[in-house]
Amino acid sequence: MLVKTVLLLFFVSFGVCDPSVVIIGAGASGIAAATRLLKNGITNITILEAEDRIGGRVYSVRFADGVVDLGAEWCHGDKDNIVYDMVKDLNILQHAQQFYPEIYHSKFKRLDQDFSNALVDTFNKLIGESKKSVSVGERLIARYEQAIVQWKNDPSVYALAREAITFFEVYVIGNKGAFSWFDVADDDDYSEGNLLFHWNGHGYKTILDLLMQKYPGESKSLPIDDKVLLNKEVHQITWGSKQAVIKCTDGSNYAADHVIVTVSLGVLKHQHHTLFQPKLPSDKVQAIEQLGIAAVHKVILRFPQRWWNDSYTGTSFLWDKDDIKHISFGEGPVKDGVSWLTSVSVLLPVEHNPNVIEAWFVGHFVPEVERCPDEVVINGVMYLLDYFGMVVAETTTRPDAIIRNNWYTNPHFRGTYSFQTPRTRRGQYSDEVILSEPLGYNAQKPNLLFAGEASSPTHYSKVHGAIEAGFREADRIIKMYK
Ligand SMILES: Cc1cc2nc3c(=O)[nH]c(=O)nc-3n(C[C@H](O)[C@H](O)[C@H](O)COP(=O)(O)OP(=O)(O)OC[C@H]3O[C@@H](n4cnc5c(N)ncnc54)[C@H](O)[C@@H]3O)c2cc1C
Ligand SMILES: *[C@@H]1O[C@H](CO)[C@@H](O)[C@H](O)[C@H]1NC(C)=O
Ligand SMILES: *[C@@H]1O[C@H](CO)[C@@H](O)[C@H](O)[C@H]1NC(C)=O
Repeated sequence: MLVKTVLLLFFVSFGVCDPSVVIIGAGASGIAAATRLLKNGITNITILEAEDRIGGRVYSVRFADGVVDLGAEWCHGDKDNIVYDMVKDLNILQHAQQFYPEIYHSKFKRLDQDFSNALVDTFNKLIGESKKSVSVGERLIARYEQAIVQWKNDPSVYALAREAITFFEVYVIGNKGAFSWFDVADDDDYSEGNLLFHWNGHGYKTILDLLMQKYPGESKSLPIDDKVLLNKEVHQITWGSKQAVIKCTDGSNYAADHVIVTVSLGVLKHQHHTLFQPKLPSDKVQAIEQLGIAAVHKVILRFPQRWWNDSYTGTSFLWDKDDIKHISFGEGPVKDGVSWLTSVSVLLPVEHNPNVIEAWFVGHFVPEVERCPDEVVINGVMYLLDYFGMVVAETTTRPDAIIRNNWYTNPHFRGTYSFQTPRTRRGQYSDEVILSEPLGYNAQKPNLLFAGEASSPTHYSKVHGAIEAGFREADRIIKMYK
């Protein structure tokens, strides 16, 4: 016992076996890194988190009759997916339905479901053909006429199919979280299986509990809660000498042998000039600037009465060109005569929460919609249901509760998920790889490390990418002390 204590003191005082690590951000990536370090005996860890909760963009809350996810909601893919692998034997994930929404048209109301399904298939085929080209938008516009030739001999259907390109556009910008489909690289490095899973009513936060070993029981849980300091907004990281010093806006300072930065790409874009002392090298700055991040706005609504049934898979909207200009809705933002309501890409029912629907607002209206009062947003959705003829007599009552999160305007996120822009694809290495490279005055023991979703070369934008990146940087530190 005495020998052990003396040895421990020796190691601690010389920092041989227990380097100190500060992790900035308690999102999926930061928590993954911390758990990996703890399991490998590196215990002098502090996680500094600016918000008053852990989880970051994984944010599951109780709402209506169940749980809703204000951030990440689905596990994307069953191949090469660390989240899927962690839970596949636990019977938690459930296949989500294939996405074949009902499509409503502002003039013709509900479109024939076979036609809607054929449109979705056409779109999936088109997306699957991605080629090295400038942007998704440019390629899809160029390819579109040819992709819809099947409808050419029926003029009215063909006209509809031509208009439906806007349906694809909102789908792409929602999926990529971009403000324009010309910002999104067509042929990108993201790899995923086709399957989509939901968390069977438990919310994506289940993965955090699993990482911290709090699920299913708490008996073997890792002491992460003791390591997290909430409401700690970091404002400067001095990394040029052996120990890094981290300054918080509340005046507190922390020293560490290694810092793992997990803040979002949006935060890096906004703050890299002032956050790092010395400033980041130019290739890193270029990667941060070239990678893309914008936002979607998910609005979650509870209706006192369901106006949909169990077979409902969701609704997408197709606007007639004239209607876009003439929609006479007084409330909420308008740009160039176009109402913010055209930015609703889809309504989706929420699994295991029978009275809840989520509306996705996408594209350049998102920052303004985030700032709209709840009442205006509810009025807007009701107006949309009415305009598109979805109001089913008295059963379509007004939502009596709403919940949403402002990911774009919140300075701790400044966006929802990252994407590759055409510019990110010009160099030899993808910008995610450049972002992930560690820095520090000692090349063998770099002290400034980068994790987070946007540093994953193949699973950026997703929770499993964030977790992989956290593990990657923890492993980098663990190897230095082996
Ligand atoms: C609406 C929405 C829907 C999504 N849907 C899906 C989905 O279905 N499936 C999927 O896989 N992914 C989805 N994502 C993406 C997924 O949520 C993210 O990729 C992932 O959670 C990112 O984790 P992270 O740890 O890299 O970053 P974050 O979760 O952003 O963690 C970083 C942490 O750093 C903190 N921070 C920021 N600045 C500072 C500072 N100065 N000082 C201290 N702390 C700071 C932040 O508060 C945050 O907690 C979605 C995201 C959103 C927003
Ligand atoms: C943890 O690391 C910090 C910074 O290097 C150091 O001041 C502190 O004494 C360490 N704590 C323990 C318990 O070793
Ligand atoms: C569900 O509602 C749709 C109309 O939106 C209807 O066509 C369908 O038959 C209904 N299904 C069931 C099982 O009631």
